[in-house]
This record gives sequence, C-alpha cells and structure tokens, in this order.
Amino acid sequence: MLAGRRVVLGVTGGVAAYKAAYLARRLVERGAAVRTVMTDAATEFIGPHTLAAITGTRPVIDLFDADEVSPHTTLGRWADALVVAPATAATLARLANGLSDDPVSATVLATVAPVVIAPAMHTEMWQHPATVANVERLESFGYHIVSPEVGALAGGDTGLGRLADPDRIADAVAGVLPGGPLTGVEVLITAGGTREPIDRVRYLGNHSSGKMGNAIAVAAARRGANVTLVTAGPGIDHPHVTVVPVETAADMAEAAWRIAETADVAVMAAAVADFRPVVAIDGKLRRAAGPPSIDLEPTPDVLGGIAAMSPRPFLVGFAAETGALDEAVAKARRKGVDLLVSNDVTAPGSGFGTETNQVTIVLPDGSTEPWSLMPKSEVAERLWDRIAELRKREGTSA
Ligand code: PMT
Repeated sequence: MLAGRRVVLGVTGGVAAYKAAYLARRLVERGAAVRTVMTDAATEFIGPHTLAAITGTRPVIDLFDADEVSPHTTLGRWADALVVAPATAATLARLANGLSDDPVSATVLATVAPVVIAPAMHTEMWQHPATVANVERLESFGYHIVSPEVGALAGGDTGLGRLADPDRIADAVAGVLPGGPLTGVEVLITAGGTREPIDRVRYLGNHSSGKMGNAIAVAAARRGANVTLVTAGPGIDHPHVTVVPVETAADMAEAAWRIAETADVAVMAAAVADFRPVVAIDGKLRRAAGPPSIDLEPTPDVLGGIAAMSPRPFLVGFAAETGALDEAVAKARRKGVDLLVSNDVTAPGSGFGTETNQVTIVLPDGSTEPWSLMPKSEVAERLWDRIAELRKREGTSA
C-alpha cells in the first residue's frame, strides 16, 4: 500500500542508476510521494533532472549546498520508508559501518523509517566475503535486502548482480510499510507442485511453477498480512512473507496443518500429489531390471485436514479442472471451503506455468463468477478483494 505514503529514494553510482528512474516512476504510479537523494557518482549515470521530472521535486545531491540546512535529517524524518537502489558495494560497506559521508548514507543514518536496499554490482563483488558480511550486518539492523538477479551487467558481462526488477523493489517498499487492510491478519498459502520420490533420483510430480501461489502471497503481504508460504516451488523474497520450503505432500501437510492452527485465512494454491509410491527405492531403479511396477497409496489431504479443524481459518481451495465446471461446483460443496478458485488448466494462457490465469470463483452455495483472462498478479489482487467481502459478511473486519 503505497498510496499517500512518503518514500525517499537514494541513488548511488552504478550503471543500474538509470533504473532508479523506472523505480521512481513505479512508486509514483502506485500513489507514493517520492523524494530523491543522490551521491556524486550517481549523477554520472543519471541526470538529477530526470528524477526531478518524474517525482516533481529536485533531488538532494549535496549535503552542504542545498536549500535546506540539514537535508539528510529533513529527508530522514520526512520518509515513511527509505529505499536505496541501486546500492553499490561501497554503499553497502558505508551503511554497514555507519558512515555518513555522502547524501545517501547520511540520510539512511538519519532515519528511523524502514529501509529497503537493492544492491547491484558485478558477481565477484556481490559474492566477496566482505560484501556478504556487510549484507548480513545490514540485515541485522532490520534493513530489507532485495537481492540482485541474474542478467546483463556493466561492460558486457552477465551473471548474478543485476539490480532487481523495479516492480520487485516497489513491492518490497510497500511490504515494509505497516498499515494495509490485512494488517495483523495471519495468512497461510500453499504453492508449487509436490514431488513424491520413486527412488533417489526420480519423483512423481506435476507442472505447477508456484507462480499463482506466489502472486497471492505477494498481494497479501502488500496489504499488510503476515504471510507464511508453504511451497514446493521457488519461494519469494518479501519482508512479510515467511517461506517454508517443502518437497512432498506429507511435508506440506505437516507444515500447513501446524501453521493453520493460528492462521486467519488459508489459501491452498498448491498442486498436491494425490498419490505417492508406497516405497521410495533407496538407490536408483536400473533400466536393465526392466520396467518397474510401482504401487501407489493416497497422500494426506492437506486442505481436507484444515477444513476439519475447529475453529478453522477462512478457507480458500483451488481446483485444477479440464473443462466443465460441474466438478468444481461439487468440489466446493464437498471440500468444506469458503471459496473455491477453479481454473481450466487446458485453456490457453491458463493454469500451470503461465503468467496469466482464467479462473471462476465458486461458492459453496453453487454460485459461480467467471473472471476474464488476466495476469496472475491481478487474479491475486481481486481474490483478496473477494475474500475481504466474504469475511466482512461473516463479521470479520479485514
Ligand atoms: O503454480 P502455477 O504454475 O502458477 O499453477 C497454478 C495452479 C494451476 C497449480 C493453481 O492455480 C491450482 O489450480 N492449484 C490447485 C491444483 C490442484 O491440485 O487442484 P486439485 O483439484 O487436484 O485439488 C483441489 C484442492 O485440494 C487444491 O486447493 C489443492 O491444493 C488441495 N489438495 C489436493 C490434494 C491433496 N492431497 N491435498 C490438497 O490440499
């Protein structure tokens, strides 16, 4: 929730400084009031006028030659949140040691607002023990680090160290700001596809990428919820999301049932295996031994276990369907959920691994609401709006 919030963007001197303009734009688009502060080196990479044009205010570029007597403390006090993007290796070292010898580090030292740091540098510098130690120290101050990504670096190199996507950084800024409509709400989300071992190298799995569950987690965190994401897929990096990695349906059940006991809302977006091999071979099945016959047994029903709890969280199930809605409607009644999100996993742009999804909301009374094809991030936002309406009807505030 950035609308109406005050964000200070600190820009330091790396080639990724040009992306600070995109980040400033994203923050402004989300409704934040943005002021900027730059190091000398940053001005070599991006003109202060660019940031001024986007944010509507001139960046602070000098601690002494400014309109204000003490621009760093003024900015530090003004900020609801402060983000440094890009943060060079030298900036990380300065901040980790409490130095304040440039406008950005001085402003960070002069604020009590939450701080987000998005580093960008060459891979060797990012992985150097000195940088690793500096990052750990910054985390120990409570600063949130948005880790760099793999991609093109300065000088034609490629590797880990590229500045995170501006949207990811804006999400992190939103995440460190308290006060969204889900503040204080404990949310459990399952995501990804479980893997049931056949032997030490093979498993029974499915095509879930975890994108749908991750998007729901980000949207909940953006609204201020404390989110626990139990995932058999890749996790996410967000200050209000605790990621619990799991592999099998049994792992997922164990973690989800424990967390559900104190959750207010549970959203089960994972594709959980329904069956697993009775025995996982300790070793590797050999081709020479011929085709194996593998006996299967049912896995725990993660959602079913939560539905049976009393009291239980507000419960959202997903249904991966392949055509008509009849089965989803029957599932919504049978599974004891408050809301079921059905997606046709055979429709183009929908279901497993896609960036978009076409879902139909199914309520236990059998009513259905088809939504158009949209990005999974938007499905997630609209889902939280719908959950809020239903919980309100039940008499829960958020
Ligand atoms: O991860 P993506 O690539 O983004 O893809 C998203 C998705 C297609 C995986 C997602 O949108 C989705 O549909 N998830 C549910 C998939 C599924 O397993 O559907 P189901 O109809 O088999 O299961 C119904 C519900 O029971 C689901 O909420 C499921 O999480 C839950 N379940 C199923 C089996 C089991 N043993 N335990 C469960 O909790």
